[in-house]
Amino acid sequence: MYENNVLGELMNPESADLIFEQVRPFMKLMTQYNCAMLEIKTKLEVLNMDLSMESDRNPFESIQCRIKKPVSIAEKLKRRGYAINVGNIEKYIHDVAGIRVICSFPDDIYKIADRLCSQDDVILVERKDYIANPKPNGYRSLHLILDIPIFLADETKHMLVEVQFRTIAMDFWASLEHKVKYKKDIGGKAERISAELKECADQISQMDMRMQQIREEIEK
Ligand code: GTP
Ligand code: MG
Repeated sequence: MYENNVLGELMNPESADLIFEQVRPFMKLMTQYNCAMLEIKTKLEVLNMDLSMESDRNPFESIQCRIKKPVSIAEKLKRRGYAINVGNIEKYIHDVAGIRVICSFPDDIYKIADRLCSQDDVILVERKDYIANPKPNGYRSLHLILDIPIFLADETKHMLVEVQFRTIAMDFWASLEHKVKYKKDIGGKAERISAELKECADQISQMDMRMQQIREEIEK
């Protein structure tokens, strides 16, 4: 009864074998990205605990981890003109494993990022400082692509992890801006909203610096 539909195809033992043959290496790779993400997350948490001893506050407020969804991975490969296969994921997608670190103050961002990059087993592959050089729309964050070894049962493998650092205020801005970007029926309001967002981004940046100066004065 299922012979002429997709489910029928899936129920066919030969097709099922074929699907598992393709899915298994993909699942394996995603697990490896998960391991790499956990390694970096633990390093960040250790740094947070250690640095909090010397300054009596946490350098970061929260940390979020995510593995890119299969559909987003496929879309990104397609958009860049690459065939969708496991080899190309590793080669061309550098943000399959992503960590976002949210700090209270801008100077903490650089402090944690520098400490993380100077660890023996961490290799800095790419650094984009959108805080020092904001995007034209006002976007600010520090982006790192890190190479980290993971120690598996039979091999040591190097994996890439993207880490984004931003302040609470920059994060607030980025989530609203992200919503606007993906809202389809924004029509004639788009230009005015972009201009307002840019202005907010600049004010947020000034406020971050003022809050940092107040903290420094308190700490003196
Ligand atoms: P992609 O990784 O394909 O995005 O290209 P890229 O490597 O050139 O991008 P980049 O390193 O500049 O940014 C990577 C990620 O940072 C994005 O996936 C977003 O999560 C975030 N990001 C970058 N620019 C913006 C922006 O203008 N607004 C918001 N809300 N997020 C941004
Ligand atoms: Mg990227």
